[in-house]
Amino acid sequence: MSDSREQAGNSTAVDGRKVNKRLDAAAYQKLYKASVSDNEGFWGEQADRIDWIKPFTTVKDVSFARKDLHIRWYEDGELNVCVNCVDRHLKTRSGQAAIIWEGDNPDQQRTISYSELYEEVCRLANAMEARGITKGDRVILYMPMVPQAAFAMLACARIGAVHSVVFGGFSANALADRIVDCQARMVITADGSHRGGKTIPLKPNVDEALKIAEQQPEGHQVRTVLVSKVSGDSVDWLDHDLWYDEFVPTHEAVHEAVPVNAEDPLFILYTSGSTGKPKGLQHSSGGYLVYTATTFSYTFNYQPGEVFWCAADVGWVTGHSYIVYGPLANGATTLMYEGVPTYPNLGRCGEVIDKHKVNIFYIAPTAIRTLMTDQKRAIGSSQRDSLRILGSVGEPINPGVWQWFHDEFGKGQCQVVDTWWQTETGGIMMTPLPYVVEPKPGAAMTPFFGIQPQLVDKRSDILEGKADGHLVILDSWPGQARTIWNNHERFIDTYFSTHDGMYFTGDGAKRDEDGHFWITGRVDDVLNVSGHRLGTAEVESAVVSHPKVAEAAVVGFPHELKGEAIYVYVIPNDGVVPDEQLTKELRDWVRKGLGPVASPDMIQWTHGLPKTRSGKIMRRILRKIAANEHETLGDTSTLADPQVVDELIDNRLNR
Ligand code: WTA
Repeated sequence: MSDSREQAGNSTAVDGRKVNKRLDAAAYQKLYKASVSDNEGFWGEQADRIDWIKPFTTVKDVSFARKDLHIRWYEDGELNVCVNCVDRHLKTRSGQAAIIWEGDNPDQQRTISYSELYEEVCRLANAMEARGITKGDRVILYMPMVPQAAFAMLACARIGAVHSVVFGGFSANALADRIVDCQARMVITADGSHRGGKTIPLKPNVDEALKIAEQQPEGHQVRTVLVSKVSGDSVDWLDHDLWYDEFVPTHEAVHEAVPVNAEDPLFILYTSGSTGKPKGLQHSSGGYLVYTATTFSYTFNYQPGEVFWCAADVGWVTGHSYIVYGPLANGATTLMYEGVPTYPNLGRCGEVIDKHKVNIFYIAPTAIRTLMTDQKRAIGSSQRDSLRILGSVGEPINPGVWQWFHDEFGKGQCQVVDTWWQTETGGIMMTPLPYVVEPKPGAAMTPFFGIQPQLVDKRSDILEGKADGHLVILDSWPGQARTIWNNHERFIDTYFSTHDGMYFTGDGAKRDEDGHFWITGRVDDVLNVSGHRLGTAEVESAVVSHPKVAEAAVVGFPHELKGEAIYVYVIPNDGVVPDEQLTKELRDWVRKGLGPVASPDMIQWTHGLPKTRSGKIMRRILRKIAANEHETLGDTSTLADPQVVDELIDNRLNR
């Protein structure tokens, strides 16, 4: 198979920019077909992007059959992920910036070359080993967006430990659940983080989380909490605490990396599903790295020397794959931004782009929509002439937003890639490749190499041609999550049982007459609030844990900026008369329980919820009322108590 990597170096001018035009539409089609018909050949070849300590002899061993579900790639190969992201670049680019860090405060920045990255990571790896962390141990990272977060991920990879990054916006409760579920032995955190000019405490949440964890039947295994000094806030100090900034520098700046098997876990990342507590998706070392390296290179058409900025948080999969692993595996310069896109004002993104000459910028539609609220401010203070490619991720991008991003933010000079993927997929699954596939605003367009998307109906029948259905993937890819940590049954139930023999994404999609895909959003009870994934069940259980609440139902409703917002229907306990004070208390309760990301936008008190005679809540009806579309409720005659609906409509909050 002729991989396009052989044609690299073919520089052409497009949009007035020098680009590496490696493929054209016909070559894409040809290579895509080949990548599916000889899937092992394709992924065998892509695996050459990384260095293997022991080469693999089999590329792929996969079964999507429910009874024998297993996903293995390069299974007898050995490698070290950190060596691939750091050491192997030292020969050719030791002085090149690996990470450009831009502080929340515009006056703060730091550039870390590949050789400095090597030293930082080695010291930390030695420090972690000195605290007894070895291959296979789990380490929780609860970090601000500072370089130490990347050092910590890479140091774990270096010693074969499994990291689990918990987003800094999650509460002590959420952190405790994760510490207990993966039985972490160490937590790496900071005193607090800077975001939007405020400091947000982290270490106090860790202290509280460990207290909560201690009370759970399984207890916790954390022996060390390593605390980086970021906010300067004073914090309580416990026996197991160590200052990162004092302890780590006493260790040597060289470290012999630990070889791991391709299938050994690199990380666990918790994400929300439609039921129960968040699940720890387990990602592999070899396949994940090959997949993120390959998708990064193609999707962003990355050329040596360019500056790539992914504006996600490392707490989400986007940050894992496209701030850290994908770019660094490619020897790229990755920009890491501590703050929020709107601080100190809406012009910040553009200003950062100018300051660091960013060539490729990757962000969520929710942030773009916020920029659009004051366009003059958002783009008036910058030129953004270094930009070549703009990427979108995390939620459907409205065509109007796409157009503004392309025409105004990118001055009509950039390729826009709308990338669809998930925590479970490890890397980008669908996107119009830049300079290759002509994009349609709002469409994820075409599958990545080797990916076989399909649409099915509820009976799992494959829909042909122009269609609208459940989005499934027919065969595996190296970046696919291997299992749910400690719960393989749940992995099978969640992803491989709805449509037998296929990976079910939980998303709906349309295919147009040209065969291009348009993602329509979740078809399950998962919310996407400002690009953050939340389960309705999680929010509901946080609400009903309030002592004055009897029952609750949570749905999403369309929101101009957030994409989707949270609407809570609550039945109070007998004798409780809800008022504004209680509403506020409940909102704070949920923020405390789950984190500010889950703060309900609307809380409607009610005497009842629409239920079927068998007691199932009819969420379809609640969604319509929350969206102020009660005129199109459809059939409510099967409800146990149809009158409930009138009360809900009369008191609806979104008008
Ligand atoms: C949604 C984020 C439309 C989708 C990488 C998916 C998108 C969920 C897009 C995964 C896109 C992500 N267009 N929808 N380009 N990208 N989504 O796990 O519903 O945080 O299932 O991974 O976000 O969210 P997650």
